[in-house]
Amino acid sequence: MPGVPVPPAVVTEIQRQFNHELSAAHAYTALATWCAERNLKGFARFFHKQAGEEREHAQRFMDHLLDRGVMPELAAIPAPRTAFKSVLEAVQHARSMEQLNTAGIHQAYEAALAAKDYPAQVAIQWFISEQVEEEAWCDELVARVEAANCAGGMSSLDRHLEKILNAKSHDGGAED
Ligand code: FEO
Repeated sequence: MPGVPVPPAVVTEIQRQFNHELSAAHAYTALATWCAERNLKGFARFFHKQAGEEREHAQRFMDHLLDRGVMPELAAIPAPRTAFKSVLEAVQHARSMEQLNTAGIHQAYEAALAAKDYPAQVAIQWFISEQVEEEAWCDELVARVEAANCAGGMSSLDRHLEKILNAKSHDGGAED
């Protein structure tokens, strides 16, 4: 079924954004791997969870296009950054990715507004709220890592992250 037509400018933006979400998933997997190699199991698990969420975000955009009769076009995913000087640099990288993602979502929303595409506006509003949360946790994580300025502080932050994720998974959240 063709569904409610999508203006071409909005198709372009949604295609760009869901491919960006997939590259963010790849980048989070790289961050998780970097942390796992350093025995930071809490951080690794946390970044794996984020990778899963990014894939869900991409799927949500793709489903929106499919529901409206547009075939989503998957693009090549660039190689992610794999080297970091410190945990602080790793979490700062996560934060800058989220800031970039917020800008991309806003750009897609602008296109939906300009084209008077009401269904896309409603769909993208979910992402706008989601980015407020995503940026808030990034800011918190960077601040916590900055505060954990010794090896002991970092490993207790790592255990703290694991504890939070365990509690969440018992609440029915994502498992690793
Ligand atoms: Fe798809 Fe981290 O936002």
